[in-house]
Amino acid sequence: MAGYTESPFRRLIKELEPSTVLVSELVSAEAMRRGSEKTMRMIEYVPEELNFYGVQIFGNDKTAFVEAAKIIEDQGVDFIDINLGCPSPKVVGSGHGSALLKDPDSTADLIHTLVKSTSLPVTVKTRLGFYDDKDLIDTAKKFEAAGATWIAIHGRTTKQRFTGVANWDPIYEVKKNVSIPVIGNGDVTSAAIARNRLQDLDGVMIGRGSWRNPWIFRQCREVFEGKTELTPKPTMADQLDFFRKHADLATEFKNEKWAMIELRKHFAHFMRGFRGAAQYRDRLIRVESRAEMDQVFQEILAEVQK
Ligand SMILES: Cc1cc2nc3c(=O)[nH]c(=O)nc-3n(C[C@H](O)[C@H](O)[C@H](O)COP(=O)(O)O)c2cc1C
Repeated sequence: MAGYTESPFRRLIKELEPSTVLVSELVSAEAMRRGSEKTMRMIEYVPEELNFYGVQIFGNDKTAFVEAAKIIEDQGVDFIDINLGCPSPKVVGSGHGSALLKDPDSTADLIHTLVKSTSLPVTVKTRLGFYDDKDLIDTAKKFEAAGATWIAIHGRTTKQRFTGVANWDPIYEVKKNVSIPVIGNGDVTSAAIARNRLQDLDGVMIGRGSWRNPWIFRQCREVFEGKTELTPKPTMADQLDFFRKHADLATEFKNEKWAMIELRKHFAHFMRGFRGAAQYRDRLIRVESRAEMDQVFQEILAEVQK
């Protein structure tokens, strides 16, 4: 997820649940080909993230994809994911991301070119369709024939962006029509929802649900294994500890200033639903230093323990 799944966050998620499959933020194949340092920094990882960590690329140029694949392969990651789902006007306007769903044949050709050029598995992340889901099954079959290792589908169209409720029914239909693994995505915010949504799919992909509850991946594994006693909901102390570790790793990865800016958006999502949350959120979304963050955390702990 752009702006969220940088190495420090991925690493913490993997620590909490080692079976989690991780994906980088989307990165431009073209920028990678040009040797952009900023882009290379975005896909950096630590060995603990492997098994499985994939880099997600976007673009529409075959040569750029093939060159980016070579670079990604040299980095030693586990797989390459192609973004066919990003609805942002900037990405779609350049003919990238989910704009590629408008022409499934050319997109399948692009996937096939990439598959032939790399020894890494090539996976795709897509949506139900650009305007509607009427071509989804045909499109998925084309992507399968092109050599995609799995297909992850967000149950919304491009036009919907993030509005409405994700519709998983067309995803179950795809599963009946292809042999490669199909992963469902959209609005999974708890392990119970993941269990209900999984049905005969091969996996569930979780994005925003991890912001408020990074433990969700462990809880999902537990329900998928049929456990009835799940890891309890993290306490406030556990969650603040998670943020402290996140701040440590993010500071190590770049610097304290960057770490605080990174964490602000996580605070905006998390600081809700407890006494005084609005006041703490207000301070934390402006936090400038680690000392300031620690001070607010102490006050939160004192408040919730009252
Ligand atoms: C802030 C944000 C950034 C995202 N970045 C990406 C991305 O880089 N690549 C991608 O495939 N999807 C991206 N997505 C879409 C999510 O992967 C996911 O498909 C969508 O949020 C629905 O799943 P969820 O309800 O579990 O979050 C992003 C979504 C959000 C909200």
